[in-house]
Amino acid sequence: MDAIRTFKLTKRFNSLIAVNSIDLKIEQGELFSLLGPNGAGKTTTINMLCCLLKPTEGTAQIMGYDTIKEPLKVKELIGVSPQETAISEHLNSWENLALIGKIHGMSSDAVKSRSGELLEVMGLTERGKDRVGKFSGGMKRRLSTAMAMVHAPSILFLDEPTLGLDPQARRATWEHIAQLKGKKTILLTTHYMEEADFLSDKVAIIDEGRIVAEGAPGQLKANFLKTRTMLISAENITDELMYGLKGRYSQVKEVEGKLRISDKKLDFRELTDYLYLKGATVHSAALEEPTLEDVLIQLTGKEFRD
Ligand SMILES: Nc1ncnc2c1ncn2[C@@H]1O[C@H](COP(=O)(O)OP(=O)(O)OP(=O)(O)O)[C@@H](O)[C@H]1O
Ligand SMILES: [Mg+2]
Repeated sequence: MDAIRTFKLTKRFNSLIAVNSIDLKIEQGELFSLLGPNGAGKTTTINMLCCLLKPTEGTAQIMGYDTIKEPLKVKELIGVSPQETAISEHLNSWENLALIGKIHGMSSDAVKSRSGELLEVMGLTERGKDRVGKFSGGMKRRLSTAMAMVHAPSILFLDEPTLGLDPQARRATWEHIAQLKGKKTILLTTHYMEEADFLSDKVAIIDEGRIVAEGAPGQLKANFLKTRTMLISAENITDELMYGLKGRYSQVKEVEGKLRISDKKLDFRELTDYLYLKGATVHSAALEEPTLEDVLIQLTGKEFRD
C-alpha cells in the first residue's frame, strides 16, 4: 500500500486554483520532496493531506484512509511541522513537546525520554527550559521539527524545516532527516535545491498548482537538462572571439574571469579547437555538473515570482 495517494486533488481560493488536479503516489519509507516557486501550491497540498484544509475537488488518502472521511485515523499516523511555526511561545521546549505527546495519548515517561532525545538531536538541550518566546527564528524552526516527531508518527510532513537555519543547524537537520530515511515516509518542502537533491528519493516539481515533473533527482537532471555547460579558463579572449562564440553557442558569459558557455550540442573538442584557432590559450576546461536548481528554473521558467 502507498503511504500517500492523491486523486485529482484540487484547491481553489475563489478564482485562484492553488492546487490543480494533482495525482501523487508516495511509497512507504520514501522521502519525497515537493519543490516549486513561492505560491506554487506546496503548503496548500500539505494542508489538505493533513486534514487542515478541505479539497475543492478530488481526494487524498494516507495509508488508505481518506482525509475527509477518516481524519482521526489519518491524524494518528502523521506528524506535521507547518511552514508557519506553531509553537506556544509562553511554554518552554519540554512543555511544547509534552503538549503534543499528551494530545497523542503518550505517557509522561515516554514523552520525557522522547523529548530528551529530540532536543539533543535538534541542538536545543541547553535551552530546553527557556521560554520559547525568546528563541531565535531558527531555534523555533528546530523545535517545530522536533514537535512533528514526538509521537513517532510513521508519516512526516516537513514544510520548509530548514528555512532560516544557520549552516550548522541545517546540516544537523539534514543528517537527522537522512537517518529517518527508509524508516518513515517523509514529505518535505524546501527552497534549497541541494538539500532536496541530497535527501530525496523522489521529487515532484509543482508550478502554479500543477505537477510539471516527477522522478528521482538524477533522473530529472538527466531528462530535463538538454544543455551542457562548460567553464573555461583562457587567455587572449578578444572581443572578436567573444562575438564569434556568441554566434556559435546559445549562452556565453564571463563569470569571475572564466568563460561559461552553454549549448544543447556543446562539444568539448570543437569548442577548444575553435578557441585555439582564434588565438586563445586554454588553461582549463571543465564540464559543469547540472543541478536540481537548473532543472527547477528551466521547468518553472522564472527565477522568482509571487
Ligand atoms: N487561505 C488562503 N486564501 C486565499 N489564497 C490562499 C490561501 N492560502 C494560500 N493561498 C494562495 O494559494 C497559492 C498557493 O499558496 P501556497 O502557500 O500553497 O504556496 P507554496 O508553494 O507553499 O509557496 P511558498 O514557497 O511561498 O511557501 C498562493 O497564490 C496563495 O496566495
Ligand atoms: Mg509554503
